[in-house]
Amino acid sequence: MKLGPTANGLKGTIQIPADKSISHRSIMFGALAEGTTTIRNFLRGEDCFSTLNAFRALGVPIEDDGETITVTGVGFRGLKAASGAIDVGNSGTTIRLMMGILAGQPFTTTLFGDDSLAKRPMNRVMLPLREMGARLTGSSGSEFPPITVSGSDQLKPIHYQLPVASAQVKSAVIFAALQAQGTSTIIEKESTRNHTEEMIKQFGGEISCAKDGKTITVTGPQTFKAQEVTVPGDISSAAFFLVAAAITADSQITLTNVGINPSRTGILEVMTAMGAKLSMLSVDQQNQSADLEIMTSQLQATTISGAIIPRLIDELPIIALLATQATGQTIIKDAEELKVKETNRIDATAEELKKMGADITPTEDGLIINGPTPLQGAAVDSRGDHRIGMMLAIAALIAKGETQLQREEAVAVSYPEFFADLHTLSIKGGK
Ligand code: S3P
Repeated sequence: MKLGPTANGLKGTIQIPADKSISHRSIMFGALAEGTTTIRNFLRGEDCFSTLNAFRALGVPIEDDGETITVTGVGFRGLKAASGAIDVGNSGTTIRLMMGILAGQPFTTTLFGDDSLAKRPMNRVMLPLREMGARLTGSSGSEFPPITVSGSDQLKPIHYQLPVASAQVKSAVIFAALQAQGTSTIIEKESTRNHTEEMIKQFGGEISCAKDGKTITVTGPQTFKAQEVTVPGDISSAAFFLVAAAITADSQITLTNVGINPSRTGILEVMTAMGAKLSMLSVDQQNQSADLEIMTSQLQATTISGAIIPRLIDELPIIALLATQATGQTIIKDAEELKVKETNRIDATAEELKKMGADITPTEDGLIINGPTPLQGAAVDSRGDHRIGMMLAIAALIAKGETQLQREEAVAVSYPEFFADLHTLSIKGGK
């Protein structure tokens, strides 16, 4: 698709689509609970439909009236073997969390996905689940999908120190621990998003997290009670427009209903430290959401490393674009996990932004960006990665001349209305 620079900046208000992590988990907890769970503001993106369809394949009745999703929970003991292998598309969250759930089921399931998913490492999940007593195998003896899980209804608890900072791995082990007999302890390398832990409590289960925020204790077996879930907006989707408004001239926008769970708000801290004119309005503590207002900003470079990385991991490609417009050298380190996302996001971000004239260098565990650098339109490629696609579309807003974005359809994985929302904010800017 062809994209051009904004004529008059971005203006107006949009509602950010629902949180992807919470939408996945709302289907999972709804399926594992007893009773009928309703989900409002479910993310209608491809990844979350992969989870929805996977649970239907496991015999869970799920209705969708186009507005509300209704899940008739079957409990941990009510899932049934699927009639064939389950396709989870591009979704790492679906495959990894389901491996933890299926580890405790007395039947065999095969999970597979697209070409990107077939390259993503699964040992990180398979190793602890094997230790708990499940059998898991990857394609031709490798750690890569398709993954076949032969579960056990006699899982043993585990004491496990996570070798990677990953909410997906943590969540998979928690789901298995919820089905094991006894108490498991899971110690994180760094604190990661805590939506699984929060939803266990919301659905009437028990889990405790020590004061250091990294040691989790969970005792199985547990049962859950159905809930009414309303999913807040996804801060990882909001990130693209926060950066867009900060780097385009004459912009002022408001993004409503954005989730502000503290395990996800690293980007707000980084943007504020860089000098972004960003404010949080009408904070709703109960729902952990707020409206975010942002306008064109003068930006300074920064260093991003250590414990904040998991709190903004998915935002690093768009933060790299932000850094191309900040004065000085921005250093991103301790982010080697970016190499095993939907693409190698260190290489994809550096190579695609370089085509537009950015001064950006990939490193072993991050990126070094010098700014401010004017960008030029170029032929760029999402590489099938939704977040790379959206980052490049925002880069086009400040590039001189035309940008040709290939494989733009990838955005539908997490933000199907992305181009429509971009259009809305640009039209308002034109008025
Ligand atoms: C997610 C966790 C993160 C994140 C992904 C969603 C989740 O992955 O990158 O988009 O919902 O648990 P890792 O846990 O592998 O870092």
